[in-house]
Amino acid sequence: MSKPAALTHLPAWQALKAHFEATGHTHLRDLFAADPQRGERLNAQGAGLYLDYSKHRVTDETLTLLLNLARETGVEAKRDAMLAGEKINVTEGRAVLHTALRAPRGATVMVDGRNVVPDVHEVLDRMATFAGSVRDGQWLGFTGRPLRNIVNIGIGGSDLGPVMAYEALKHYAQRGLTLRFVSNVDGTDLAEKVRDLNPEETLVIVSSKTFTTQETMANASSARTWLLAALGDEAAVARHFVAVSTNAEAVGKFGIDTANMFGFWDWVGGRYSMDSAIGLSLMLAIGPDGFRELLAGFHEMDEHFRTTPLEANLPVLMGVLGVWYNNFFGAETVAILPYDQYLSHFSAYLQQLDMESNGKHITLGGAVTDYQTGPVIWGQPGTNGQHAFYQLIHQGTKLIPCDFIGFAHTLNPMPVQGGLTHHDLLMANVFAQTEALAFGKTLDAVLAEGIDPALAPHRVFDGNRPTSTLLADHLTPRILGALIALYEHKVFVQGAIWDINSFDQWGVELGKVLAGKIVPELGSAEEPQLAHDSSTNTLIRWYREKRA
Ligand code: F6P
Repeated sequence: MSKPAALTHLPAWQALKAHFEATGHTHLRDLFAADPQRGERLNAQGAGLYLDYSKHRVTDETLTLLLNLARETGVEAKRDAMLAGEKINVTEGRAVLHTALRAPRGATVMVDGRNVVPDVHEVLDRMATFAGSVRDGQWLGFTGRPLRNIVNIGIGGSDLGPVMAYEALKHYAQRGLTLRFVSNVDGTDLAEKVRDLNPEETLVIVSSKTFTTQETMANASSARTWLLAALGDEAAVARHFVAVSTNAEAVGKFGIDTANMFGFWDWVGGRYSMDSAIGLSLMLAIGPDGFRELLAGFHEMDEHFRTTPLEANLPVLMGVLGVWYNNFFGAETVAILPYDQYLSHFSAYLQQLDMESNGKHITLGGAVTDYQTGPVIWGQPGTNGQHAFYQLIHQGTKLIPCDFIGFAHTLNPMPVQGGLTHHDLLMANVFAQTEALAFGKTLDAVLAEGIDPALAPHRVFDGNRPTSTLLADHLTPRILGALIALYEHKVFVQGAIWDINSFDQWGVELGKVLAGKIVPELGSAEEPQLAHDSSTNTLIRWYREKRA
């Protein structure tokens, strides 16, 4: 028998519950009125990021109680256990050491009695040599032409990080290279991504930790067919295909020379792997130095997380604030709203990071949680979202905590009228949105504008909608690394509080297994014995009839 989930019985939880009942309705207007310095006080900085958390529905007492909860749930000890290489991924018996991927040369991180940092740098150095030779045009394709197109084939953690970071850091990319990312098993993805590419100038990176993932294997094999249709010789594969994987045997079987394989380790989770060799496509785009800058940013945030007292620790603050809304206000989602076009894929990346990590309802001790865990993560870059879904955030019936992300400087300065720039317009929207969400507009203020009283309620904004604002100087590889690590550790803090394993993903297995069973049923010549429920049987029959 597993022990029942203990979280809600902890003194800190009970104190937060009572505190919420007593103060949860307090309006941000009153909190700001009572403390004119609130905005100057409630902020924290680390690794080049500035966090304003004053527009959250918290008092000093709330923060103390939330940090007590972090302490009572052992967040610090759990963090130290992770960083020390303990096997905290208990359902898979693995250490969780993505932080070792960005440890500086010369650092020591022990796993099973072995310092893994030299291994990490050995792979990074090989990646750098390879990336350098492709970027310089020294690595030639089978017909002697330099490789100008890079196609990364992978899915989930073997795709989302590189795509997001490539988009984010395009400004720093070698523009003569064309990068494409193929993930979906839908053949349209591959077909459209290679349609205008010359196979003679194309490098395919097959990125898969396990090298067994259905989507990636199907895409890799079709990409091989596409290449061979043009080049007509198996020997071409070695010049045009490389692999990123932990599974050398499967890479060899696929026909990729294992000399052209870049490895990583079972202590790197898929969704935490973009700073391992999974980032090879990104390194090809931004170069080895840019990639090392990214790693330095990750490491800076790791150090901030490791050493900063909880009161000023960015991932801890963001983590406990998320718990406050998720578990006490009943908020179900979090919106990620980057005000930078380069971060267009950031919320999609965070969806896997957060939801695959904390979408769990069984505690580490095996009990069913009697409290909510990971929120739904969603969002898209401002200002587009303002003209789509912000209406609901401002005036709908749901409480949606939002993270606004903005920069002091743009990488594409562009003037508008009056000495102002596009960037001024963009940032004015960041500040206006968080102000409007916090303070709203009262009925009195609407009526004072002479609005017809019958229409006035439609124009009232209740406000009291909480936001974090994250700011940085400008979007560099280093800042991007820090930003990603911030969210990685925020997810960790929340998983630690909820007493769940943030590092497995059994929830994706059942669908994979059933799809594996259905695949042959779709293609078999005879009517197969369909042993599903009546709905699934009927759907399969419908498809088989049309497919024939
Ligand atoms: O979605 C499940 C998952 O296992 C992810 O965790 C992982 O990022 C993805 O599949 C891809 O796995 P692989 O890198 O082994 O192909």
